[in-house]
Amino acid sequence: MTKENFYFTTPIFYPNDNLHLGHTYSTIAVDTLKKFKEFQGHDVFFTTGTDEHGEKLEEAAHERGFQNPLDFIDPIVEDSKKLWELLEIDYDSFIRSTSDQHEKNVQEIFTQLYDKGDIYKGSYEGYYCTPCESFWTEPQLTEEGNCPDCNRPVELKSEETYFFKLSEYEDKLKDLYADHPEFLKPDSRRHEMLNNFLDKGLDDLSVTRSSFDWGVPVPFDEDHVVYVWIDALSCYLTAVGYGHDEELFDKFWSDNVVHFVGKEIVRFHTIIWPALLMALDIPVPKQVFGHGWILFDNEKMSKSIGNTYYPEPIIEAYGVDALKYHLLREFTFGHDGNFTRESFLTRVNSDLANDLGNLLSRTVSMIDQYNDSVIEAGAINGEYDEDLKNIATAAMDKVEAEMEEYQFSRALEEIWKVVRRTNRYVDETEPWIVSKEEGTRIDEILYNLAESLRIISVMLTPFLPHTAKEIRAQLGLKGEAKIEDAKVWGLIEPGTKVQKGEIIFPRLDVKEEAEKMVERNNTLVEERMASNTKVDEHVKLEITIDDFAKLELRVAKITKCEDHPNADRLYVLEIDLGYTTKTIVSGLKGHYTIDELVDRKVIVVNNLAPHNFRGVESNGMILAAQAGEKLTLATVAEDIEVGAIVG
Ligand code: MSP
Repeated sequence: MTKENFYFTTPIFYPNDNLHLGHTYSTIAVDTLKKFKEFQGHDVFFTTGTDEHGEKLEEAAHERGFQNPLDFIDPIVEDSKKLWELLEIDYDSFIRSTSDQHEKNVQEIFTQLYDKGDIYKGSYEGYYCTPCESFWTEPQLTEEGNCPDCNRPVELKSEETYFFKLSEYEDKLKDLYADHPEFLKPDSRRHEMLNNFLDKGLDDLSVTRSSFDWGVPVPFDEDHVVYVWIDALSCYLTAVGYGHDEELFDKFWSDNVVHFVGKEIVRFHTIIWPALLMALDIPVPKQVFGHGWILFDNEKMSKSIGNTYYPEPIIEAYGVDALKYHLLREFTFGHDGNFTRESFLTRVNSDLANDLGNLLSRTVSMIDQYNDSVIEAGAINGEYDEDLKNIATAAMDKVEAEMEEYQFSRALEEIWKVVRRTNRYVDETEPWIVSKEEGTRIDEILYNLAESLRIISVMLTPFLPHTAKEIRAQLGLKGEAKIEDAKVWGLIEPGTKVQKGEIIFPRLDVKEEAEKMVERNNTLVEERMASNTKVDEHVKLEITIDDFAKLELRVAKITKCEDHPNADRLYVLEIDLGYTTKTIVSGLKGHYTIDELVDRKVIVVNNLAPHNFRGVESNGMILAAQAGEKLTLATVAEDIEVGAIVG
């Protein structure tokens, strides 16, 4: 095999909150792919990082009481790095879009495009979706007038802006799609981009913003900052040396550049990004792969929905390999899949504890018991040996073929076919009977079992490095696993001594562990909510009278109060505003009993956007004063009818 250079990237994540299980998905996949390609002998450069500019980040920081967005972002970036460390993610570059080097290179890129005439100044009126950081025209909106990507409300904005001449690249992009069908995978996403965007025609793209300043300043017009997506996409270049390390850049920005991204951001990577690269005379990537989402209760895992699931407690309780195995095996890369605690725990039990763990422990135990811990040379062949050898030595080629298509799940399934075949071999050959009756036939059976496990350990090396190492240690194997060793039979030196070790995956009580998983996650969600919010500030950011006028405070009466079904510290309340009733979720529990609240008049923020608290939508906020542990409701001194405006 000829050695090649590969460049793989994950998306550059928004650090507007801690990364959750959904975010770890592409990072685990890309990391495994890197380890796999390196195992095959290739050279790989792997970039991940954080996309730190833009209105969304600025708003998130301000909402949590931070004047300078970096004060809010820095600890989240640190947590992300810690998470990658915990998951043993072997990235080569962690790019922060706020780094000086990156900002300088983005300015150079922007100036180059402007000097070439690909960027021009104009003015823009359109609909902006802040969560997606995307502009839309009216016909592109949904029937309800929402963002076509995320279905959230958009804002009409009109600004002086610079445009990128995206429309001029329409034909070239169509050629790219026609000449290189492999450019966008899976195929369904290519059809989607062609039908929904390219075939409908492309408009020029607004590439600067002037209504806020949390971004890279346009070097020749400081009223503008570079559009966050241009800034973020450029990370893929600057992380691998573009504009500052030519040798590195030339080595890896070559024939094998592949971006792995979630399906909702495919459009940016397969329309805007290749057009920008064409304008910069930089070769377009070989491929963009749009993977699916991890769903939780069949909804996309996301902070705004309130179903965040963090990976750290799972890794701490069950190990990196268990989480990696589940994510790569359970979900087909490219499709959505539902994460449930029960399916995770069940899979750990069935595939890791039962199939693999048992095979290892019974093999080592039998070698211990029947052959004094020594793997002896086999002498007498038997009925099932050939089949086992053939299946085991043929598997690595199949795994390699699946990995060419990024089919992690099917690659693991090929390995498990060997695991299951080997377990069957134990049942077929019944060593416990043979040991008594057939003399040295037992040596052959035990040798074959050890050999098969050796091949399994080689194949597992890039996927589950800890498990692979543990299997090798228990088999008494020396040296590093090499990929070619999985394709040949008979490499264990007779006389090798096995070392019985711990059970590699203890069986889990699904019900009990599922409950613990909920508890551990809830605790972390609450901890993070508190630590990402600045509470020691005496005065929050200054607001104008117009900002204040946006608030609608009203007197309301609490008519009903119940415990929140999924959160220990929350109540779900119904309030009467005179003209309507509403449901509000509030943290008054622990401070007021239900009886103390019902029939009480309170002040509510009436026009707060709905927010989902663990599955219950809240439509406002009840005001209260808090000092340390003490909390008291804000209310009105005189009796006044419900619905009255406060202000
Ligand atoms: N900052 C942009 C990407 C810029 S790349 C030049 C961004 N950031 S993000 O943090 O919102 O999302 C990063 C990635 O995480 C996306 O690919 C997104 O699809 C992925 N995921 C977020 N939630 C996810 C799941 N629940 N499941 C799988 N991936 C998901 O977009």
